[in-house]
Amino acid sequence: MIPTILILGAGGQIGSELTEKLRTIYGSNHVIASDIRNNNTQLVTSGPFEIIDATDKEAILTIVKKYGVTQIYLLAAMLSAVGEKFPQKAWNLNMTSLLAVLDIAKEKHINQVYWPSSIAAFGPTTPKINTPQQTIMEPSTVYGISKLSGEFWCNYYHEKYGVDVRSLRYPGIISWKTKPGGGTTDYAVDIFFSAIEQTNFECFLSKDSCLPMMYMEDAVDATVQIMQAKSEQIKIRTSYNVSAMNFTPKELAKEIQQHVPKFSITYKIDYRQVIADSWPDSIDDSKAREDWGWSPNYTLSKMTKDILENLLTQ
Ligand code: SER
Repeated sequence: MIPTILILGAGGQIGSELTEKLRTIYGSNHVIASDIRNNNTQLVTSGPFEIIDATDKEAILTIVKKYGVTQIYLLAAMLSAVGEKFPQKAWNLNMTSLLAVLDIAKEKHINQVYWPSSIAAFGPTTPKINTPQQTIMEPSTVYGISKLSGEFWCNYYHEKYGVDVRSLRYPGIISWKTKPGGGTTDYAVDIFFSAIEQTNFECFLSKDSCLPMMYMEDAVDATVQIMQAKSEQIKIRTSYNVSAMNFTPKELAKEIQQHVPKFSITYKIDYRQVIADSWPDSIDDSKAREDWGWSPNYTLSKMTKDILENLLTQ
């Protein structure tokens, strides 16, 4: 049976590309995009669109019933850096929306939920290299606390009420179509926009800050893949580690310079450095590989080439 999908936060960095992909796979009429605003023309014109505040359970339920929605992808969230400026707001948005969606699934209005966790669920005491699936998790940002709590809520709803909820711990996601907002890994997107202008990029992280990253193509594929897997393949109901590449700002700049020799980078570290320092350098994603066949397609060099080609021919 073809699922009918509701995407909450469809106008965001991941939501916009995921909506496009899901509309290609299942047909536009089966994918209802929603966001708090309707300023993304592509989304609004390429299929059904509804304005929804993701913290409003009744509003979500109305749309679920209107379209006969069977799956919800919850992509609305406040990210790490902006979350530190508005801790209560971040907690409220990130948690209220998740509990609303999990309740709708518990009440059997829908049969599947996707919710992303993040490398931010780890913290300064977590082993940094090849961070295992199960390890010490003591997050130091509000965003990270909301992701770790959310993981346990997902697991709880699965164990207690049989909710089929699936989740990935996304690394920094790099895209060129829609920019992220308010994240610590955002430098790795912004840098490409300086590169195509052949200008200097001022980086807010230090040159040797290594972080796990993933190209949007892989992030979208991983998301579709985990949602299409058979339920019995999904053995982890908190959230799966997934990994693709790890690099520092210096390494990314060097890669870009292979294509744009005039590009340069300077460093002006701000409060986001402390957040980056609390996250892993690299991730062990062997469980995702074993359980549902995860494997990324993009390396740093393949991704850099692809982004620059796309941005330069736009
Ligand atoms: N990209 C996110 C952030 O930087 C991490 O999940 O906040």
